[in-house]
Amino acid sequence: MPRPVLEPGQLGLRDLPEVLSIGGDSGLRQELAAEPDLTYLFWECTAKCNLRCTHCGSSCEPQSPFRELSTDEFFGIVNTIAEDFDFRRVTVAITGGEPLLRPDLFEVIARLNQMGAAGVGIVTNGTLVTRERARKLREAGLMVASVSVDGEELLHDSVRGEGTLRKTLAGIEAAHAEGLLCEVITCVRPANVWKLDEVERVIRGSGVAQWRLVTIGRMGRASEGDEFWLKPPEVRELFDFIERRRREVARTGEAFDLRFSCGGFVGVRREREVRPQCGQCFAGLGIASILCDGQVSACPSMPRDWAQGNALETRFSELWRTRFEKFRDFEWRRSGICERCDWFHLCLGGGLHERLAQPDGFCWLERQGEL
Ligand SMILES: C[S@@+](CC[C@H](N)C(=O)[O-])C[C@H]1O[C@@H](n2cnc3c(N)ncnc32)[C@H](O)[C@@H]1O
Ligand code: SF4
Ligand code: SF4
Repeated sequence: MPRPVLEPGQLGLRDLPEVLSIGGDSGLRQELAAEPDLTYLFWECTAKCNLRCTHCGSSCEPQSPFRELSTDEFFGIVNTIAEDFDFRRVTVAITGGEPLLRPDLFEVIARLNQMGAAGVGIVTNGTLVTRERARKLREAGLMVASVSVDGEELLHDSVRGEGTLRKTLAGIEAAHAEGLLCEVITCVRPANVWKLDEVERVIRGSGVAQWRLVTIGRMGRASEGDEFWLKPPEVRELFDFIERRRREVARTGEAFDLRFSCGGFVGVRREREVRPQCGQCFAGLGIASILCDGQVSACPSMPRDWAQGNALETRFSELWRTRFEKFRDFEWRRSGICERCDWFHLCLGGGLHERLAQPDGFCWLERQGEL
């Protein structure tokens, strides 16, 4: 039986801890909207990729359509960030495209660490990680490599190209052999949602102990059609799987963590079961992104026309201070599906990039078939 999503009037005393905790998170978002605090910086270091995944939200190809930042241009921007913000509190996540295609990746990570960043991570398809590159990443001070695995061999390869799972697993093995911490990100779709136990076996077989599950947004090559879009029973299956496995892992004390990693409110009783903290979206409140051509946005998954200017032309802190109003205003999100929602005070209209990709609203309650 699907778990019912509650109406606010159906809440009982046993829901109080969840309500308080979710309320705390939405309160924090409102505080940050008034007083933003940069603690997380994405850098889309390239739009080039050695793969051409069917679902790629950035439509990446071997060639980039952009004039991409040089090392000096990137550090010209980062130096201003270190001057204008407390850089020791800023974690940098380098994504793409495929970060390993940048020959300066090791130098960039090392310099960001020398500048005192709170931590530096990369998101990678893992296929280009050799022992030597893994050693250089470790020596540069990489905190974590988030590696994409989308299924067991047949499914992963059908999404990412023949032979890619084998290469990705070899990349993880090389990273582990060099002492690098890896986690896995899986994009859940109708083709793998009923096979998540098989995906888990692949991941655990690789020795990875952290697994983040996300769903696919209607962006880039995934804009059209329903191949990537979970229907309500599939969304419920995803949440049920994560809940069940999180409970089992907690009971048995296994050294393994899995969690739902998309933004947006998933319902009071679900919220604390599918992840450790509430999944509120902090894009533009504590998170900013530098895109591969120097454009500045709240999150790299947002449509590019939401970028707010180029940090090669305008100081990053000025863009952050003066051009991010729309990311810090929740009222415009009280429209479409959210207009009359009783949960708005807790949810504030869900995650920003999903909301922008679906202007009438993107709602996890609706996607579970309960609204
Ligand atoms: C854009 S990729 C860049 C890093 C690297 N090339 C990789 O694939 O891991 C970052 C993450 O976004 C995921 N992703 C790609 N397209 C997506 C989409 N349409 N919706 C949600 N996630 C997506 C990828 O699977 C990957 O885990
Ligand atoms: S999802 Fe990652 S690996 Fe796949 S095409 Fe996009 S950038 Fe490349
Ligand atoms: S309708 Fe909007 S405000 Fe209500 S729960 Fe869904 S996303 Fe959140």
